[in-house]
Amino acid sequence: MSAVFKAALPCLVPMRSGDLDCVVAIERDIYDFPWTRGNFEDSLAAGYSCWLYMDGNELIGYCVVMLAVDEAHLLNLSVARGAQGQGHGRALLEASMAAIHAYGAAAMLLEVRPSNLVGRKLYAGAGFSQVGLRKDYYPALRGREDALVLRREL
Ligand SMILES: CC(C)(COP(=O)(O)OP(=O)(O)OC[C@H]1O[C@@H](n2cnc3c(N)ncnc32)[C@H](O)[C@@H]1OP(=O)(O)O)[C@@H](O)C(=O)NCCC(=O)NCCS
Repeated sequence: MSAVFKAALPCLVPMRSGDLDCVVAIERDIYDFPWTRGNFEDSLAAGYSCWLYMDGNELIGYCVVMLAVDEAHLLNLSVARGAQGQGHGRALLEASMAAIHAYGAAAMLLEVRPSNLVGRKLYAGAGFSQVGLRKDYYPALRGREDALVLRREL
């Protein structure tokens, strides 16, 4: 008789300050305007929900969510370059929404650059819709770029 073994799925693990070398290395690799180490340290110190998305020992991605009353604000959601385009971003987003819902959040809010077509596709596919626009919100290679404000009930 043959046994069937199911591989463990990637999962969320709390981010610690000792993880920041790896997190910051990915951040610098995938963004033109990355968060600094200090941004992550401040998020941890403020008690934001900061998670690693791990496949065994491999760091695939991470996210940072600020929970304010019953609404969550997704501040950072990132997938390592070599792991992009394989469904991990979607899975990480779904896992973070489930986790933050369990903490009592009824909705999630986020900003995305209009030029970030993959990010926009990810969020539209996950049921987010635009509720606002922040003019000149982001630094850009030329000047500033607006932010689309997206929201979804959880
Ligand atoms: C944006 C990001 C989180 C998406 O994660 P990912 O693992 O690459 O994306 P997924 O494989 O889960 O795909 C998500 C959606 O984007 C689409 N997509 C993924 N890669 C794509 C590509 N290169 N071109 C077009 N569409 C693409 C998928 O088809 C999927 O669409 P669907 O939900 O309609 O099926 C990731 O690419 C990333 O970290 N990018 C750099 C940082 C960033 O932009 N973060 C978000 C800031 S708001």
